[in-house]
Amino acid sequence: MSEFFYQSGWGAFTMMLLMAIPFAIVFAVVIYSRGFATSGAGTTKGTRLSRLEAMWLGFAGLVFLLVNLLSIRYFPMVSTAQAAATPEEVRDVEVVARSWGYHISDRELEVGEAVRFSAKAADTMHSFTLYHPDGRVLFTMQLIPGLEQAASLIYTFKDPGKYKVRCLEYCGIAHHAMQAELVVVDKRS
Ligand code: CUA
Repeated sequence: MSEFFYQSGWGAFTMMLLMAIPFAIVFAVVIYSRGFATSGAGTTKGTRLSRLEAMWLGFAGLVFLLVNLLSIRYFPMVSTAQAAATPEEVRDVEVVARSWGYHISDRELEVGEAVRFSAKAADTMHSFTLYHPDGRVLFTMQLIPGLEQAASLIYTFKDPGKYKVRCLEYCGIAHHAMQAELVVVDKRS
């Protein structure tokens, strides 16, 4: 059962819905308390939603569900769990972040291989954030010093090129200079 939640997009979707319940309750309470307040003023019957309001609410709810459903597979935790479920060949890369640079055990990687990044912070809070050559952020890991277990995430590179690593947690005077580079080559052809 827990594997379903970790390894399936549907599990993550279900969790998202469960987490939305408290917000839905607050939302309902606000709508109805406001409704009773306006009905007390005697101008409108505010206790029930009008047809248009109900349609709008339904539409907003539908958009919320669709956007979450369609985007859930891009969630790094979901893709990591899916890759971990089929660990044919995972290359391990160790990362140690220290003010203000990275020790990375392997900086040349290949297109199509699953890479497990296991990262630790040696002194203070840092992050290991990977950028696609086109500038998009692919994922970010917050690295908390003093943890016994490394933060880990599996990523499969799709495009060759030079990938930037940057620290996105403010960590002192040279935080802006805390960068590294990974080179991803295509050896399949
Ligand atoms: Cu390390 Cu900012």
